[in-house]
Amino acid sequence: MDPSQGMDMIGDLIIAEGCIASIGHNRDAMSSEPYQVLNAEGMVVCPGFIDIHCHLRQPGFEEKETIATGTRAAARGGFATVCCMPNTNPPIDTGDTVEYIMSVAANEGVVRVLPIGCVSKGRAGSELADLGELSTSGVIAFSDDGNPVSDSSLMRQALEFSRVSGLPVINHCEDLNLSSGGVMNEGAVANRLGFKGMPVAAEERMLARDIELARATEGRLHIAHVSTAGSAALIRHAKEEGIPITAEVTPHHLTLTEERVMSHSGYDTNSKVNPPLRTYRDVQALIAGLREGVIDAIATDHAPHTIEDKMYEFTGAPFGISGFETALGSLMGLVHRGELDLMTLIAKLTREPASFLRRADLGTFEAGTVADVTIFDPNVEWVVDPDNFVSKGRNTPLAGSVLKGKVMAVIAGGEIVYSNSAIRFN
Ligand code: DOR
Repeated sequence: MDPSQGMDMIGDLIIAEGCIASIGHNRDAMSSEPYQVLNAEGMVVCPGFIDIHCHLRQPGFEEKETIATGTRAAARGGFATVCCMPNTNPPIDTGDTVEYIMSVAANEGVVRVLPIGCVSKGRAGSELADLGELSTSGVIAFSDDGNPVSDSSLMRQALEFSRVSGLPVINHCEDLNLSSGGVMNEGAVANRLGFKGMPVAAEERMLARDIELARATEGRLHIAHVSTAGSAALIRHAKEEGIPITAEVTPHHLTLTEERVMSHSGYDTNSKVNPPLRTYRDVQALIAGLREGVIDAIATDHAPHTIEDKMYEFTGAPFGISGFETALGSLMGLVHRGELDLMTLIAKLTREPASFLRRADLGTFEAGTVADVTIFDPNVEWVVDPDNFVSKGRNTPLAGSVLKGKVMAVIAGGEIVYSNSAIRFN
């Protein structure tokens, strides 16, 4: 299945010299050649998934994740390309740090890593980082993710630069005055648990501001982890007006609600994430937004933390979900329940993020492009066991859940970087 070409067929995918060579019924023609054969009968074979939003934690937080462990977890989740956020230590706000990440990724990573640079120096939110230097060193976008760009003038300057450079500004929309002290969605569940809530207005107010700034500057605005029905409505309206805006949504915001925060023992800090899990109505609006093209892509926001970090009372625990390894299984739930068709799901993980990156060579099976391939079994059921994660981050609210749909192999740059023991080579 290749949404970039509207392709849905049964056949053989031939890879030669690291590139897609051909697709068809030509395996017999290959029998005399020394080819390695992966038997993907009954499985889906599609372009390698692209994640435009994840946290690899290196440099600075290697106890949570490294580029080595994070890219292996990404591969296990079906991703052949990941874009890493700059909330590291030091943050990715100079060309040197970009080069460091690229060199570690080249030596220790197993999938393609594309770094995102900071909007502000030190992610401190007051002074613009050297966006020119960052773009020359190869970042694919700018973001202070984890923090919003609260200063409207700074956001405006970043979007002005975006218009010139063509690189998007990804904002984590959160009005900190409105969300201050909040640890989960504002509403009935927070009231019941006695926790301070984060209102939907905290996200929507900054999003509305950013839409006005994108209108004025014509810079490329991208909204990270959209979580509310109101945000989807604002983005829909902005797109209808021709404003240059794109948006992403996470697997957890598409499949879980605030109810997940409650557990039999009280609460689960593994459900604490920013933006917070919202309501059923929000989830339905996000799925509809995805289906209708209001939300362009699915991104994991893989945010690994150590067990010790999360073993806290709810208010003190850090926000974040380790998302690579459960992404496909969670998302296939939408397909199995008839809420999203398989071709659209794959497009949101391949064609759409490639288009966001303006990379015609990624997210496609077009002949001659680099061989990034994801193979998954849509029907296999498995139980999530964080102890088996490749990621150092075991922080998932899905421990013990049964998911239907599992990644079986990933080829990145022509190399098999992950294969499940159940897949046959013959
Ligand atoms: O839940 C989150 N975790 N949201 C963010 O915006 C940042 C991320 C992190 O870095 O842990």
